[in-house]
Amino acid sequence: MAIPGSASSRARLVVLVSGTGTLLQALIDHPPVNTEIVAVGADRYGIEGLVRAEAEAIPVFVTPLEDFPDRGAWDRALRDAIAEYRPDLIISAGFMKILGAEVLKDFTVLNTHPALLPAFPGAHAVRDALAAGVSVTGCTVHLVDEGVDTGPVLAQREVAILPEDDESSLHERIKQQERELLVEVVGRVCAEGIPQERVSSS
Ligand code: GAR
Repeated sequence: MAIPGSASSRARLVVLVSGTGTLLQALIDHPPVNTEIVAVGADRYGIEGLVRAEAEAIPVFVTPLEDFPDRGAWDRALRDAIAEYRPDLIISAGFMKILGAEVLKDFTVLNTHPALLPAFPGAHAVRDALAAGVSVTGCTVHLVDEGVDTGPVLAQREVAILPEDDESSLHERIKQQERELLVEVVGRVCAEGIPQERVSSS
């Protein structure tokens, strides 16, 4: 539970995924200095993100929302599953569920999002940017708070929308930037901690 002013020792990371896990793969392939992925958590079974973790012998856990009577029970179970690994930092890397108060009370969580927040929050950011007809979108790494993609922004990168783009081609170009940005920001946060103005505004 270190981080805010950080880097005392090797930072223990828990990465949360819901899908293909290419952002997780970027952290595996380009591990930020002095970090270690101690577990990968998911909200569903049978996803490629878990296969990627297992291929690296990283412990995995799965906490499906449907297994619990309500979101509060799921939130507590997810907090307990994460806590088993004594992480310093949680990274939501394509985790498609809103984290609850119990998780956020106990852990510092970073999220990566495929838009230039505060523009296009939510689960369909790439589709929404295309539908809005903007010429530039991008990606954001931010601290998670209890809102939907509302936490303090740590870093962003722009991506131009091309006339021939569809949701899939644009999302892939955004993810190329997200992978680099995520590795960079995780490294910075683990080395230098969370910038003080971000802690106080969160
Ligand atoms: C990424 O673009 C990530 O920002 C997005 O899911 C993708 C995961 O890609 N997350 C959200 O939209 C959360 N609102 P991956 O499964 O290939 O790592």
